[in-house]
Amino acid sequence: MCGIVGYNGTVDAKEILLKGLEKLEYRGYDSAGIAVHNEEGVTVFKEKGRIADLRDAVDSEVEAHIGIGHTRWATHGVPNKSNAHPHQSATGRFTLVHNGVIENYHLLQKAYLKNVTMQSDTDTEVIVQLIEAFSKEGLSTVDAFRKTLGLVHGSYALALLDNEDPETIYVAKNKSPLLVGVGSEFNVVASDAMAMLQVTDQFIELHDKEVVIVKKDSVVITTLEGQTVERAPFTAELDASDIEKGTYPHYMLKEMDEQPGVVRKIIQAYEQDEELVIEQPILDAITASDRIYIIAAGTSYHAGLVGKQYFEKMAGIPVEVHISSEFGYNMPLLSEKPLFIFITQSGETADSRQVLVKIKDLGYPTLTITNVQGSTLSREADHTLLLHAGPEIAVASTKAYVAQVAVLAIAAYVTGKATGKAIDFDLKQELAIAANGIQSIVDSKDVMEEIAADYLKTARNAFFIGRNLDFCLSMEGALKLKEISYIQAEGFAGGELKHGTIALIEEGTPVFALVTQEQVALGIRGNVKEVVARGANACIIAMEGLEEDGDTLIIPRVHTLLTPLVAVVPLQLISYYAALHRDCDVDKPRNLAKSVTVE
Ligand code: F6R
Repeated sequence: MCGIVGYNGTVDAKEILLKGLEKLEYRGYDSAGIAVHNEEGVTVFKEKGRIADLRDAVDSEVEAHIGIGHTRWATHGVPNKSNAHPHQSATGRFTLVHNGVIENYHLLQKAYLKNVTMQSDTDTEVIVQLIEAFSKEGLSTVDAFRKTLGLVHGSYALALLDNEDPETIYVAKNKSPLLVGVGSEFNVVASDAMAMLQVTDQFIELHDKEVVIVKKDSVVITTLEGQTVERAPFTAELDASDIEKGTYPHYMLKEMDEQPGVVRKIIQAYEQDEELVIEQPILDAITASDRIYIIAAGTSYHAGLVGKQYFEKMAGIPVEVHISSEFGYNMPLLSEKPLFIFITQSGETADSRQVLVKIKDLGYPTLTITNVQGSTLSREADHTLLLHAGPEIAVASTKAYVAQVAVLAIAAYVTGKATGKAIDFDLKQELAIAANGIQSIVDSKDVMEEIAADYLKTARNAFFIGRNLDFCLSMEGALKLKEISYIQAEGFAGGELKHGTIALIEEGTPVFALVTQEQVALGIRGNVKEVVARGANACIIAMEGLEEDGDTLIIPRVHTLLTPLVAVVPLQLISYYAALHRDCDVDKPRNLAKSVTVE
């Protein structure tokens, strides 16, 4: 969370920084700020709220060719102007932006900064004050920076300006993502490539505990100890139009519409000689394992629950699915030959990464399934399977979930074929049918808009129920609704409701029931009768062939294992329209950020 940018070049930095921050706003939008350096020294502009608020606060007369910027997701200190970045040292000599969390900031403050009056409640300010304290002891800026980094515990992506050096941005990284972008007569810094695609597609990845001196015509990467590191840039395979909203009112709507295309792209990406394939080393790693441990958070965890069924049913390998933030201190007894699969859209989720670090220390094989090539979890795992979903900007994940489910299906299917345990169906063809099914749902949005109006306009809470794969999906449906419409929602196994939660059903309570699994269709319909008898307003979403009179929505028929791919789409759309009807900020729901880089 939080996004940082920096520009060092020959043209006015302000607009480049602001545009970059707009692209990073998905990482947090509690406050934003920029600092620019010209012959007058460093000037800071910051504001509570969105980049649009910051834009209004920036003095267009101030021109500078070097600067840094930040968009904040608050961790330490409430979202207000004084806690907004950039932060400055006591004399104003040093100015800093930070993404991450400094765990020992209190200790450092007590040990080194007793006489400094802090201007904010943030952990970040300690870093900039320490740099100043050490430079007052006679250290050069880079040495004061290094000494400070040697003391801090935690995660950071940092960009620092020195009022006495108008030519340099000092940069460092540990655990939080950071790239340096290179150009002709300019260089840039950004939390992700999208932010600086406006000026370059050439980026250098940075590793943990590296310190970088960014001038307009040079980039020098060093270790924390000062050894120079050579690393060539890579070309970011991103199309600028992928990260624009175009004519869509919201990224979420655009991304839901992209879902049929995403499934088709995945088929192409994993097809060779008309067969679905995954790389041999990945297949070897999966077939060599006696148990798969899937580690993920949020929507990716929900995709993992579907993935468990795929690997067990299509490949005969037992699977456990774990919430990444719990796994660290609640590690299950491991099998003899475990394989760890990390599912993460962003590839940056700190909760998942801390598990990866631990598992690597234990020496077990790891595979990351991610949308972002070159992301931290992709770089650090032994293997990567890419989602090919294109950048997902809306905070609520939609197309990445569909891509995760599709890629998990392919991995399990290819494994099953290799081990002779495959069930007899043509996955490629079934995925193509699912893509068409998704298309027909996104083409009938008005139906979902009506359902949202009928069931959710004034609802305080809602339930999603299903059995088997529909249960996995019900949790994702509930998460989507909560996060963007703020309606309290729960996903439940249909049979479990009567063991307590049914007490919450009262007159008019919306209950969304999923009926896509033939073998449990009668069971879930029985659960619908139970809640309706207690006053629930039931919305039944049934798959073609399993429908009954009175069902609310019939979705196209697809292979029984692939129903989550298709049935998730009406749930996403219903949540989207519920949020719109309630005037919620769909793309940037309160308290959230897209890439959760704090534990
Ligand atoms: C919900 C959502 C989150 C993410 C979660 C994990 O719509 O997007 O629940 O799924 O924060 O993020 P990744 O997949 O990037 O690890």
